[in-house]
Amino acid sequence: MRTSDVLVVGGGIIGLVTAWRAAQRGLTVTVADPDPGGGAARVAAGMLAAVTELQYGEQTLLDLNLASAARYPDFTAELTERTGLDTGYRRCGTLAVALDTDDRAHLRDLHAFQTSLGLESQWLSGRDCRRLEPMLAPGVRGGLRVDGDHQVDPRRLAAALLRAAELAGVRFARSAVARVTLAGGRVTGAVLAEGTAVTADRTVLAAGSESGRLAGLPDEVLPPVRPVKGQILRLRVPPAHAPFLSRTVRAEVRGSHVYLVPRENGELVLGATSEERGWDTTVTAGGVYELLRDAHELVPGITELPLTETLAGLRPCSPDNAPLLGATAVDGLLLATGHHRNGVLLTPVTGDALAEALTSPSGELPRYASAFGANRFARARQEQTV
Ligand code: GLY
Repeated sequence: MRTSDVLVVGGGIIGLVTAWRAAQRGLTVTVADPDPGGGAARVAAGMLAAVTELQYGEQTLLDLNLASAARYPDFTAELTERTGLDTGYRRCGTLAVALDTDDRAHLRDLHAFQTSLGLESQWLSGRDCRRLEPMLAPGVRGGLRVDGDHQVDPRRLAAALLRAAELAGVRFARSAVARVTLAGGRVTGAVLAEGTAVTADRTVLAAGSESGRLAGLPDEVLPPVRPVKGQILRLRVPPAHAPFLSRTVRAEVRGSHVYLVPRENGELVLGATSEERGWDTTVTAGGVYELLRDAHELVPGITELPLTETLAGLRPCSPDNAPLLGATAVDGLLLATGHHRNGVLLTPVTGDALAEALTSPSGELPRYASAFGANRFARARQEQTV
């Protein structure tokens, strides 16, 4: 039996940042995860794409995304200072291009929407896009240059967060959680797969999509998150081909997002499918084919590069695509999950918001995160039944 102020279930980047920030504020913290630093961040490309991934109707989420993007320079500098590890944060900007006249009209609308919200985004002709990125296909019809959408390397970020958490005194229970424990209507911790009980004053579910199916909690308390599969490829740019791309390049091809994220170390990440296939994480020939086909339309030279890795991961998606943060209706239980396409982007702001909820006398989220309360769907369900 171990006891902590806080038990964080899940040691992906969201669980790690929550644990680290809570420990920095003087709480004793245990993270339960068989493989801390793993999870969806092992798969993710790490685009910090608040502006280029803007969706109609998601302006509230945009504010949180922008708040988190603005934290990135200090956040990564602090991590590096404390751990000596580089996170691969790169202020490279993004170019979103159109490959046909329909895409062009769609990007024009997106540009008008971005501008109406005061976001920085510049319309470029096809020729100007190719001047910036000479590897682009000759048929590119125009594009949006967004100099504020950067990238980080999620694997390096996870390694730095893990080290920072260890240095801040976070303890790790390298085991899966068998079940969350409830006593007298209050969550009291969890029993690990290897049988040990971890008791805690507060338990934070930060287990990505798994948060929605943890044993021990009544159905109405489980967060409404579902897995959305993403297949992704990694390629290598040999020195003879460098610089292949100097910024993230993306497009929507036949309704699917395709993006190419070039790292300084020569890795080129090509993502990603978005599939509703439950818990399946198979890399399929069809998924790889579609990604390469779409990327080839965007940047024909891609087929020359060595393919080094294929992977699939699960995005934790909530009913409104936004995260579920902070206190739930059950005493002792908080959430940090449901980040869908924005888990890497929202890591800094999630850590700050959860640390505030765990240490403030009211237990409430700070104002910038208050629209993302963990209880919002439970409340809606209750209102429907009244
Ligand atoms: N934000 C990129 C993705 O989820 O594929």
